[in-house]
Amino acid sequence: MWKFKYTKTLALLLLFAVVTHASAASSGQCRTNVQDNFCWPGQTCMPTHQDGLDFAASLDGDIITPTDERYPIVTIMINTRVTMFPYVVVMAESVDDVIKTVKFANKFNVRLTIRSSGHDYIGRSTGDGTFQLNLEKMKGLEVKLNSTRNADGELKAQSGNSWIRVYTELNKVNRTIIGGSAHTVSMGGYTLGGGHSPIGRKFGLAIDNLLEVEMVLANGSLVYATDTETVYVDHDTGARRISQNTDIFWALRGGGGATFGIVTAFTYKIHKDSRMVKLECISLIKDESGKDVGRAFLKSFNDLLSTTLAPEWGGYQMLEQAKGHTTGGVVLLLNHFGEWGSPSFHTIDPFLNKYRAQCQLTNKTDFLDYEKDTKDALYTNSYVFNTLMQPGGFTDAFYEFFYDMLLGNHSGLPIQMGCIGTLIGGHMNDVQPDVTAMNPGMRTGVMSLTCWGAWDPEKAGLKPEEDYIAQLADRLLTYGQGTYFNEPSAHLPNWKTDYWGGHYDRLLSIKRQWDPDHVFTCLHCVGSDTTRPFAQTPQQSPILGTVVENCG
Ligand SMILES: Cc1cc2nc3c(=O)[nH]c(=O)nc-3n(C[C@H](O)[C@H](O)[C@H](O)COP(=O)(O)OP(=O)(O)OC[C@H]3O[C@@H](n4cnc5c(N)ncnc54)[C@H](O)[C@@H]3O)c2cc1C
Ligand SMILES: *[C@@H]1O[C@H](CO)[C@@H](O)[C@H](O)[C@H]1NC(C)=O
Ligand SMILES: *[C@@H]1O[C@H](CO)[C@@H](O)[C@H](O)[C@H]1NC(C)=O
Ligand SMILES: *[C@@H]1O[C@H](CO)[C@@H](O)[C@H](O)[C@H]1NC(C)=O
Ligand SMILES: *[C@@H]1O[C@H](CO)[C@@H](O)[C@H](O)[C@H]1NC(C)=O
Ligand SMILES: *[C@@H]1O[C@H](CO)[C@@H](O)[C@H](O)[C@H]1NC(C)=O
Repeated sequence: MWKFKYTKTLALLLLFAVVTHASAASSGQCRTNVQDNFCWPGQTCMPTHQDGLDFAASLDGDIITPTDERYPIVTIMINTRVTMFPYVVVMAESVDDVIKTVKFANKFNVRLTIRSSGHDYIGRSTGDGTFQLNLEKMKGLEVKLNSTRNADGELKAQSGNSWIRVYTELNKVNRTIIGGSAHTVSMGGYTLGGGHSPIGRKFGLAIDNLLEVEMVLANGSLVYATDTETVYVDHDTGARRISQNTDIFWALRGGGGATFGIVTAFTYKIHKDSRMVKLECISLIKDESGKDVGRAFLKSFNDLLSTTLAPEWGGYQMLEQAKGHTTGGVVLLLNHFGEWGSPSFHTIDPFLNKYRAQCQLTNKTDFLDYEKDTKDALYTNSYVFNTLMQPGGFTDAFYEFFYDMLLGNHSGLPIQMGCIGTLIGGHMNDVQPDVTAMNPGMRTGVMSLTCWGAWDPEKAGLKPEEDYIAQLADRLLTYGQGTYFNEPSAHLPNWKTDYWGGHYDRLLSIKRQWDPDHVFTCLHCVGSDTTRPFAQTPQQSPILGTVVENCG
């Protein structure tokens, strides 16, 4: 439909497109992809140019095609390795636009992808040749201090907000919230996958603070879901129906994005803000003489974390390989949510008594004052993998593996490795594992340990690097319990149990009920291997605009 010339960025892709397009045409796959039954660009089932124009005219928002100068900006992924090329991007500006987009996708049976910020590490928010719904313009925010559901108030946020915007708004009324550490992450995928925060040990996961979800379903209906009821609103007639069944709210709390519907707004509990203390400590892994000084430092902190550290303490443990060296550094970036010198503050003392000289303490007036120092890691070519470390997991064998992984020569591949462990536990563990769909390992664990390999694709390949890191991902998993859905590796043979433990079967039955035709699908998402198997790329040309002729 929408005609386009190719930009420089897409020139290479066009070359590829023409080749695959020709072969697909000769193999006679005209109507839909045989594997997933979606309609892909190049097939006769695609909307016509006029269908596209009519649809665009019906929206409050705008449409971006590959020739548009905004296209590369709205489609690039934060992990550039997984950037793909949607056929068209719908910049929704209202709930109505979202409903219309779902209905349009259903009518033509095209695959829809949903993007809030494009932070998904394995590209679940994009796809070659897909119709992409971009929610970044939906930035409504509504603060209610006088809430009957939570004494300190609530916040309703549309999915396209970034966390820094939310923090800034709430700061004006002396409130804070559980959100991402990175300023640019959005509500959408972050919350549906669970959502951990630098102050999560104090206030729980994002899903533990979730009061209500407003969501557009696969059939275009709207629902409002809470933990006491589900309200259905028919888009065409406005008819409302209330059900006491709360399965969907259970599933949305940890079951993952792009699976059950398109969430247009989330309502969360908010919390009274507080003065905070920032604590930064640093150690080399090996000193100049090659002596291992990092392990005692790590052990001292991790032992405390696994036992008596108060929930008011949270934050991150970071390790990075020094470029071209056989050593690296450990950085603890911690925060105490509360007053300097309080009893909870002093639970850090067993560690601080040993390492005070390597640490720096700073008073912060409130959460935003602490959070504003965070720098987002944007636009890297990386491969991420994760495990949920449990209290007994920091064994000698673990540290051996950890060192080997970080400081080894990576089979000679030019990969830079690093890890960031988010401190979990504390009040996250007050929620019983089966109350939400979240990975049970997140309810018993103490650290969500995410590692990555990053490399320059221009100087190196992709395949050997990916294969090398995938085997590290497998080994890391043996030291923890499962893996966090939002910090995933694309290579996970046992993804159902790794992501959800024993919760998978219930999630799948809810998926079947709420999205029976698998309108929504993504890599390693609930139901993605069932009746409509997910394929990362179509067999056809990704974005070729012409219709295949004469194919039966
Ligand atoms: C720099 C960086 C920092 C991070 N920091 C944190 C952190 O502090 N804590 C943490 O828990 N995680 C963190 N993450 C991981 C983050 O939670 C995931 O990347 C998450 O998927 C981001 O959600 P998003 O909506 O912003 O991204 P997107 O890539 O836009 O979406 C992610 C997934 O959710 C789906 N989706 C998005 N919006 C909706 C919606 N409204 N309805 C239904 N499905 C939707 C998409 O289709 C996709 O499958 C970080 C990631 C990065 C890259
Ligand atoms: C708060 O809500 C209650 C009940 O909904 C109402 O009676 C009261 O006036 C409200 N207070 C403010 C300050 O809005
Ligand atoms: C926030 O707190 C400050 C300092 O305690 C106070 O001066 C201010 O009035 C408060 N603002 C609101 C909106 O409550
Ligand atoms: C932080 O503030 C407290 C008072 O609340 C003070 O005693 C302490 O010395 C301050 N610490 C630093 C590092 O400034
Ligand atoms: C990397 O280390 C392994 C042993 O750990 C060694 O066999 C190999 O030769 C090294 N490769 C390079 C390129 O240094
Ligand atoms: C849409 O799907 C929901 C969930 O399966 C269902 O309850 C509702 O009746 C459906 N609406 C229409 C109009 O089919």
